[in-house]
Amino acid sequence: MEITGSIEEVRKRVLEWRQQGLSVGLVPTMGYLHEGHESLIVKAVAENDRVVVSDFVNPIQFGANEDLSTYPRDIEKDKALCENAGADLIFHPESCEMYAPDFSTYVESQGVSAGLCGKSRPTHFRGVCTVVCKLFNIVTPDRAYFGQKDAQQLAVIRRMVRDLNMHIEIIGCPIIREEDGLAKSSRNTYLDEEERKAALVLSKAIFHGESRMKQGEKDAGVILREMTELIEAEPLAKIDYVEMVDADSIETIEKAEGRVLVAMAVYIGTTRLIDNFIMEV
Ligand code: PAF
Repeated sequence: MEITGSIEEVRKRVLEWRQQGLSVGLVPTMGYLHEGHESLIVKAVAENDRVVVSDFVNPIQFGANEDLSTYPRDIEKDKALCENAGADLIFHPESCEMYAPDFSTYVESQGVSAGLCGKSRPTHFRGVCTVVCKLFNIVTPDRAYFGQKDAQQLAVIRRMVRDLNMHIEIIGCPIIREEDGLAKSSRNTYLDEEERKAALVLSKAIFHGESRMKQGEKDAGVILREMTELIEAEPLAKIDYVEMVDADSIETIEKAEGRVLVAMAVYIGTTRLIDNFIMEV
């Protein structure tokens, strides 16, 4: 496995692979890789001849008061995980390789970016779309892999790919959880012992909502109220949102119908965590 910070090197390697008729998968990440990322890489390795993992903390998707400077990084651990999972190349650029000092071109999927996380993070998805578009242009993959944990991100990227006719298959992969239910996230590392316990309210509420919908409950008001009550019972938790939306358009729905996304963002202390489930009703 190779690692490079150079766009030109990535292009050279991908061109060689293309000349040999090989297919290429891309797993975009911000590093500090965990089993969630590993599952994406393993799937990409199974479905493509060569796999590139990008490992880049993208500054333009962080708001002014967010955790860009403290976002966890461990490239040595990332290298070992990628190597074990069978990746061929890590693209680990410096910010200046990705963004010229006078960078001024952005990609934005409107509407689908506006609700849920877009409300409290108004420039986040513009930053995500822009960097993902750049990574697609650099790597030119056949397939790209994203976790369903970031369900809105996945919807936004699918919309961008459709709207801009990008010839790339977007593959969504299931949420990977800790044994006790907490969705794996690089940000879990911010939690102290007490907060780590409190963070279980997210998955508890998710499992509750999921089982109520499996029982046949369709009323968003009922499901979301019960989930909200569970979360509010935890003193360290502060809800950003708990919502039911159409999984593709991210528009609010009152009644569960079609492909339904129930998603939440909850602060545990100062750490903002997200979780969700998708159900076909
Ligand atoms: O999901 C992430 O880690 C990031 O948002 C992504 C897709 C790698 C873009 O920076």
